[in-house]
Amino acid sequence: MPSTTITLHRIANHDSLTIAPQATAVRGRICVPGDKSISHRALMLGAMATGETQIQGLLLGEDPRSTAACFRAMGAIISELNSDLVTVQGIGLGQLREPVDVLDAGNSGTTMRLMLGLLASQPRRFFTVTGDASLRSRPMSRVIHPLQQMGAQIWCRSGGYAPLAVQGQSLKPIHFRSPIASAQVKSCILLAGLLTEGQTTVTEPALSRDHSERMLRAFGAEVSVDPETCSATVTGMAPLHGQTVIVPGDISSAAFWLVAGAIVPDSELVIENVGVNPTRTGILEALTLMGADIQRQNEREVAGEPVADLRVRSSLLKACTISGDIIPRLIDEIPILAVAATVAQGTTVIRDAAELRVKESDRLAVMATQLNRMGANVTELPDGLEITGGTPLTGTEVDSHTDHRIAMSLAVAALIARGPTTIQRAEAAAISYPDFTATLQQACTTS
Ligand code: S3P
Repeated sequence: MPSTTITLHRIANHDSLTIAPQATAVRGRICVPGDKSISHRALMLGAMATGETQIQGLLLGEDPRSTAACFRAMGAIISELNSDLVTVQGIGLGQLREPVDVLDAGNSGTTMRLMLGLLASQPRRFFTVTGDASLRSRPMSRVIHPLQQMGAQIWCRSGGYAPLAVQGQSLKPIHFRSPIASAQVKSCILLAGLLTEGQTTVTEPALSRDHSERMLRAFGAEVSVDPETCSATVTGMAPLHGQTVIVPGDISSAAFWLVAGAIVPDSELVIENVGVNPTRTGILEALTLMGADIQRQNEREVAGEPVADLRVRSSLLKACTISGDIIPRLIDEIPILAVAATVAQGTTVIRDAAELRVKESDRLAVMATQLNRMGANVTELPDGLEITGGTPLTGTEVDSHTDHRIAMSLAVAALIARGPTTIQRAEAAAISYPDFTATLQQACTTS
């Protein structure tokens, strides 16, 4: 069979990515870009600290660029995001400058939600915040309400949508019991607590990613966690000090290669330097449960985060049920997990994942529609997906709905589809993975 050809066409700011014919194998060693969640936090804490922060391995994607632009507009000096080392000259807690224009969080929910906690707690400064069409349709009341309980003054469009206006002021500490397990909500409130006298606590129904807690501590904040009750507490007013942050590879980006390596026959990939923080490794557990052959190699700790190389080899997959507390630990990997489920024997059921409806797109609806266009057997549930594996995929035209994780999931599905697949609006991948197409090419040609 001829080797897979990957062609990118650009028409009026949109890329269409065509993949054909189906891959015979994916092989080689792959480095994934820096973790998106850790990258945002490194830029934000660097900006709020005194002194210089050096960030190695920052994700040079569109989302961290949005964070960098917002904090530059408020006085932080952040070097160009074009090399492996990014420096931030911080301005100190409570010293954000009032920006002279609207802050634009672009497509990034993490930028908008985490930043709101910082803005709301800066006395005597006024901020306006917006984002792209997708972000302006995502719910912000989940952070506005607890911030208002702390005394914050925030205005929004009806229904709790951006654009937003914030009059910063001194807040009071609260114990917020969040109805959803969300690291963005938790981090927003903890960041607001940084500049609030006393102890601010967030309790979640299940543990979400804990990068904020880890990094806040490293920067000198007083943070305690109770994993038993899924609670985190920050004691306000401790100054932050610039640090060296080493950002591990993003397990959410590695997930595309883990699934590609598992489902394309005769494959073997090693994905180097992947962050394996236990609050993020649900994808490894789910794929292993499905029978994937994944090994952790060279496990180590780098700058407070566990890291490993991940080796995946193709194997036959079987269906599984994914629900409950594991969901926040693989929330961003559900679209690619759905692709794995299309080849698994039996019916995979994903539940308790209604949060996917308010991501960069309605990921349940979009994945069901797009995979079904390719011949899969996917039923949309109110809070998940039911996928019966084994119906062969056929290449056709599909659409990312400008959602980065959908674009890349569909590209992996294309590797096992008969006939050419064209993914419209594939440029979305640059939000979290600017080199995705080049790496895909590399993995297909090393075979
Ligand atoms: C993120 C938390 C998650 C995740 C998002 C990044 C973060 O969102 O989906 O991609 O960096 O805190 P939620 O907290 O809304 O689940």
